[in-house]
Amino acid sequence: MQKQILFTNEVAATLDRLVDELKPSKVIALVDSNTATAVYPTLSDSRALKGAHLVVCPAGECNKNLNSLTHIWQSLVEVGADRRSVMVCIGGGMITDIGGFAAATFKRGIPHINIPTNLLGAVDASVGGKTGIDFLGLKNEIGAFKSPVATIVSSRFFATLSPMDMLSGYGEMLKHALLSSTQATAEMMRCDITDIETESLLKMVEKSVRVKEQIVATDPLETGLRKTLNLGHTFGHAFESLAMQKERPVAHGIAVAHGIAAALILSHMLLQFPSETMHQVCRHIKEQYPSPLITCKDYDALIDLMRHDKKNENGKINFTLLKSAGEAVINLSVDESDIRNTLDIFQDLLQ
Ligand SMILES: NC(=O)c1ccc[n+]([C@@H]2O[C@H](COP(=O)([O-])OP(=O)(O)OC[C@H]3O[C@@H](n4cnc5c(N)ncnc54)[C@H](O)[C@@H]3O)[C@@H](O)[C@H]2O)c1
Ligand SMILES: [Zn+2]
Repeated sequence: MQKQILFTNEVAATLDRLVDELKPSKVIALVDSNTATAVYPTLSDSRALKGAHLVVCPAGECNKNLNSLTHIWQSLVEVGADRRSVMVCIGGGMITDIGGFAAATFKRGIPHINIPTNLLGAVDASVGGKTGIDFLGLKNEIGAFKSPVATIVSSRFFATLSPMDMLSGYGEMLKHALLSSTQATAEMMRCDITDIETESLLKMVEKSVRVKEQIVATDPLETGLRKTLNLGHTFGHAFESLAMQKERPVAHGIAVAHGIAAALILSHMLLQFPSETMHQVCRHIKEQYPSPLITCKDYDALIDLMRHDKKNENGKINFTLLKSAGEAVINLSVDESDIRNTLDIFQDLLQ
C-alpha cells in the first residue's frame, strides 16, 4: 500500500477502510494514559478498533523510554502479533515516536498507522518517518526511520487541548510557513490558533503538513535539505533545555516559536532577511506567546547548550537561517559574538 497522509475528520471510517485494505492478522492500538481517556472512547464506532488489543503507556516525555518500549514489545508478544499485524498509534509525538520505533523493530518491522491527537503531533511528529526513544537522558538517542503506511490527520481531537498545547503546535506551523513563502507566513499570522473552527483548522494543518512532506520527500534521511526543518531549533532547543534546568519547563513548540524569532533576527543580521517581516513575526510571537524567561546572565549557558547540540560538528554552532521567507540556508556556522548580539535584540523585541 502507498504511504499516505489523509486529512479528514471522519477518522473511524478512514481507519476501517485502511485496515480493510491491509487485512492484518491482528490490530494493536497504542495509546498513552491521557489519550486512552480523552481520545480512544471517541473512536468507539471504528470496527477495526473494536477487535483491537489495547496497549497503554504512561503519558509524558519521561516515559518515551526503554521501559515503555519493553512494555509495548511484551504486549505484542503476549497477543501473538506477527508480521502481518498492524499497530495503530493514537497520541501525541511521544506515542507516534515510540510506537513507530516499536513497529520498526518488532519482528524486523510490522506496518503501523499514525493517528496524531494533538497539534504538534499532527503538523510535525507523526509525519516524516523519524521514530525513536530517549536513552540515558539523551533525547531521541535510539531510533529508526520508519514510515507509517498511513497517517490520519484530524483536528477533531484538539478540543481537549489547552491554549498552550495549541500554541506549541502553532510554533511548528509558523516554521513551515516561513520555509514556504512570505504569503504563507502572512496568512499564518492572520490565524488565531486558540480560537479557530475545526474544519478551517484542518485546512491550515493540511497546508502546513504538505510543506514538511515536500521537504522530507526530497531528503528522507536528513543528509541535506531536510535540515531546513531545523529553522528556529538551534536557539529553540537551547531555550527549552535552559528552561528545564531552571525547573520551569516550556513546551517544545513554544521554545521553537521563540527560537524562530531569534533565528530571524540573526537572519537579518547575516543574510539581510527583510527587516519588516522580521519585526512583524517577532511582534506576532510576542503577542501570542508568554515572554521568554531569559536575561543577559543566561547567555553563557545558552551558548554552551548550543555548542553541545547534537546537530553540530567540531564544536561549531550551526544554524538554519533564511535569506527571505521560502529561501533557507543550512549549515551556517555563526560566531559567538553574533549570537550574543542576536540575544540582546531578541530581549529588546520579545520582552
Ligand atoms: N518524529 C518526529 O519527527 C518528531 C517531530 C517533533 C517532535 N517529536 C517528538 O514528539 C514529542 C513531543 O510531542 P508532544 O508534545 O505531542 O508530546 P506528547 O505525546 O507527550 O503529548 C503532550 C501531552 O498531550 C497529551 N495529549 C495528546 N493528545 C491529547 C488530546 N487530544 N487531549 C488531551 N491531551 C492530549 C499527551 O497525553 C501528553 O500528556 C517529543 O518526544 C519529540 O521528540 C518527534
Ligand atoms: Zn520541533
